[in-house]
Amino acid sequence: MIIAIDGPASSGKGTLARRLAAHYGVPHLDTGSLYRAVALSLLDAGAYLGDSGAAEAAARALTDDILASPRLRDERTGEAASIVSAMPGVRAALLEYQRAFARQTGGAVLDGRDVGTVICPHATVKLFVTASAGVRAARRAAELRARGEPADEAIIRADIEQRDRRDAERAVAPLKPAADAHLLDTSNLDIEAAFEAAKAVVESVIAAR
Ligand code: C5P
Repeated sequence: MIIAIDGPASSGKGTLARRLAAHYGVPHLDTGSLYRAVALSLLDAGAYLGDSGAAEAAARALTDDILASPRLRDERTGEAASIVSAMPGVRAALLEYQRAFARQTGGAVLDGRDVGTVICPHATVKLFVTASAGVRAARRAAELRARGEPADEAIIRADIEQRDRRDAERAVAPLKPAADAHLLDTSNLDIEAAFEAAKAVVESVIAAR
């Protein structure tokens, strides 16, 4: 069983993906971490973020160290990730790794922007998770404050909206729901309620098979 979960930044898709993977006992891949790792490699090397040759080379040379870096979660890394992720060479370099992860015996849960549309078009279940920009900014601000970092909600909201635009308007693998995705708006749901709603979708698809 492959569960594909897509959606914009801070929609709650990562938390849902982790919860569903634990519930069904299958591995989980946060595909955004791959693009974040490419971005962080360039930032650390002091390379120009628009250098698609350097970005593609970084995508082909990702290490466990960089994939485990706590700096992957920084705002700056997320912003930079949305720049390198628009490069076709970077996406092509990361494609097979993601597909191989999805093909594991027993299945997998993958979350990102193009899992249901490009990486796993034949996924068993596709969820597209959304929430209003205001709610997502508030969640992200709470997450940062919990880490002891300062958070200005208005700035975070503007960043989120800019990242949404970049992800949705790019030519390759833009952020959009697959035609057969189940839409889940978590604006008014807490984590538990969102998990129950997502699980109900998965159960209904399994029952109908
Ligand atoms: O999901 P997360 O915020 O960690 O993703 C960081 C960035 O990586 C996104 O803004 C997006 O540009 C890119 N991304 C992507 N395709 C994916 C996952 C993430 O383009 N499957």
